[in-house]
Amino acid sequence: MPSVFQSIVATRRSHRDTILPESTVFDSELEDLVKFALDNSPSYFNSQGSRAILVVKEDHQKLWDAAKESAKAVQSGEYLEGTLAKIDGWRNGYGTILIYDDEENLKGFQAKIPPLAEIFVEHQAHSSGILQFVLWTSLSEKGLGGSLQHQQALVQDYAKQAFGVADSWKLVAQIPFGKIKEGTVLPDRVNAPIETRFKAVGTSKEDPKTFLKTITTTTKTVKAADGSVVSTETTTKTELKPKLV
Ligand SMILES: Cc1cc2nc3c(=O)[nH]c(=O)nc-3n(C[C@H](O)[C@H](O)[C@H](O)COP(=O)(O)O)c2cc1C
Repeated sequence: MPSVFQSIVATRRSHRDTILPESTVFDSELEDLVKFALDNSPSYFNSQGSRAILVVKEDHQKLWDAAKESAKAVQSGEYLEGTLAKIDGWRNGYGTILIYDDEENLKGFQAKIPPLAEIFVEHQAHSSGILQFVLWTSLSEKGLGGSLQHQQALVQDYAKQAFGVADSWKLVAQIPFGKIKEGTVLPDRVNAPIETRFKAVGTSKEDPKTFLKTITTTTKTVKAADGSVVSTETTTKTELKPKLV
């Protein structure tokens, strides 16, 4: 049976055009959700180089309207039509979380440990991915559908001037979200055979709960009235204690 955590993880899906301009929670809860994700998502060297901006309602709509204008300036024909249709799906939501990398933060860690400068770029991407997952899944837990988008080319300039974004913040992803349209049924995700993606090494069928053995030794001493020891008896008891208590 899946755990509560596993059920929440399994419920998160990509809701691209199945969202409404409504929320299931107060804006203050959305703010707390984003702050929680920032505070509790691990980052390489605890560098905390990710940033997030929560944008809701009219400001969210203006953001995606600006994306449409940007798209019209650089795309045409069927490709543009497709982009505009996709943007309409996200715009029809309640809000968007913009996720940034702070390049100053990254440079700081690269300067501190030069041999790791190159790998830190990758590690910042991993850190951001974890944050993105926590945000997306937390929204899902609140009954809000979202998707993960990478339309920085279309929205970054508008967001920078409209929300006063620092120069060092680099937009890396967007999560448009909203209440899920009633009756939405997404097709099941098709997963490749698990055997091609998983190996186990050194596992056994032994119940991990019985791994902890405790051995208790008890000595019983019988004494005479004058205090002298008449006999001693030592017993040893072995108990299998549940490991996960
Ligand atoms: C790193 C990453 C990048 C993604 N980029 C996009 C994207 O640009 N646009 C989009 O609509 N979905 C994007 N997705 C969503 C995936 O397509 C989606 O999660 C996957 O098909 C599984 O479907 P599910 O989210 O419904 O479980 C991305 C997901 C990940 C993890």
